[in-house]
Amino acid sequence: METFSDILLIYFFIFGSISVFTEGAGVLPDGPLNAAVGEKVMFTTTLTPTETQFLIVDWKLNFSKVIITSTNLANNTGPEYEGRITFFPSTGSLELRSLTLNDIGEYSVSITQADGTNHFGRTTLEIHEKVSNVSVTSSSTDLVEFSGSVSLSCSASGSSLSFLWLNGSSEVTASDRVQLTDGGSSLTIITVTRFDQGPFRCNVSNPVSFGTSDPVNLSISCELLK
Ligand SMILES: *[C@@H]1O[C@H](CO)[C@@H](O)[C@H](O)[C@H]1NC(C)=O
Ligand SMILES: *[C@@H]1O[C@H](CO)[C@@H](O)[C@H](O)[C@H]1NC(C)=O
Repeated sequence: METFSDILLIYFFIFGSISVFTEGAGVLPDGPLNAAVGEKVMFTTTLTPTETQFLIVDWKLNFSKVIITSTNLANNTGPEYEGRITFFPSTGSLELRSLTLNDIGEYSVSITQADGTNHFGRTTLEIHEKVSNVSVTSSSTDLVEFSGSVSLSCSASGSSLSFLWLNGSSEVTASDRVQLTDGGSSLTIITVTRFDQGPFRCNVSNPVSFGTSDPVNLSISCELLK
């Protein structure tokens, strides 16, 4: 049988775990933040600028690697961050530049104020390679209406790519006549008709950039004219 103190203990555990959970983002924005290789990212805390310095601000990657530990006596910058961070003492915010794929991870900040108040924040950073070199190749460009299929394949450089096909200004969607495969990068029109002349374009995007291919036109001759 549960005693009152057991119940208190249970409440403590529930309350304790909820507070750990809701601590989540804390003074940092909910992630993930998205940034491109070679570019920069700003981790802005929700703290209002203070006139008095914080006692300690401690920025870490994956809860272990020191980015910067700032006290009123010194700023200790991790060797990999020398020259590529700017620390903002009035809010505890941090800018990180010249991003590489090694910068992917969980960023956390712990801030102690002069009056002993603690703030904690964490967020996730994702780094993407920008979209480039979007091009479309076609299995054939000379087709006869109702006599076969054509496959268009879109290739691009970059990471986390999403593909969208356009015929003229209309988005191409899958149907019983049209297949989209390979994550949307391949378009197959099973039975071509005179409405499939294009121009077809492939739009490629990821969270940090966008690219589009040159237009591809298909020449479709009408069976009846032969
Ligand atoms: C730490 O860095 C900040 C930002 O550049 C600077 O304003 C502050 O004076 C530095 N603190 C010390 C103790 O060097
Ligand atoms: C883009 O394509 C060109 C030619 O195929 C190639 O030399 C270049 O490395 C490509 N760029 C990227 C970012 O893949």
